[in-house]
Amino acid sequence: MIVKLAETKDIRDLVRLDERCGDGQPYYEAWLWQMHIQNRDVLIGIEENKIIGAIRVEDNGGSVLITDVMVDPEYQGRGYGKKLFESALAIADSQNKPQWLHVSPDNNRAIRLYESFGFSASGQPNLDNFFDIEMVRQPYAHIFPKP
Ligand SMILES: CC(C)(COP(=O)(O)OP(=O)(O)OC[C@H]1O[C@@H](n2cnc3c(N)ncnc32)[C@H](O)[C@@H]1OP(=O)(O)O)[C@@H](O)C(=O)NCCC(=O)NCCS
Repeated sequence: MIVKLAETKDIRDLVRLDERCGDGQPYYEAWLWQMHIQNRDVLIGIEENKIIGAIRVEDNGGSVLITDVMVDPEYQGRGYGKKLFESALAIADSQNKPQWLHVSPDNNRAIRLYESFGFSASGQPNLDNFFDIEMVRQPYAHIFPKP
């Protein structure tokens, strides 16, 4: 899989991927993808000439938000999520800032993936969605794990 920054021409495929990874409705409409692409924070994973996954690395000043982690259902469970996550964290680590994300407490697959890279539950509520949990990670946590 090749991982690279998304471009405007990728918006239609991103909306389709977003639809397929959720409940049939895209989380973001095209204009929101366009905004994120302009901010240069959308990474896409390309395999067999198509976009099979995406992830966003949003610099919030003092911290970095990892969000919109998705792999096309047809390609899930084959290590692509892990590769996308590695690329995203390499960018976040290079900024040397704490990282955080939100996840539904019943999304065991995602939680296991995040824990394997050193994320842990912060215990802080997510003010946008009280059902989700917040997980945090220090830069290079996979190289310098907590004792
Ligand atoms: C979460 C998601 C991105 C993972 O991507 P993926 O390509 O399926 O994951 P990978 O194959 O790279 O596996 C990564 C890790 O996930 C976990 N995992 C993978 N398949 C799993 C399964 N069937 N059951 C439980 N855990 C699983 C494992 O920890 C695995 O690491 P390991 O192989 O070292 O054990 C993907 O399932 C997805 O897009 N889900 C829908 C959208 C979503 O829920 N996004 C997260 C929102 S916070």
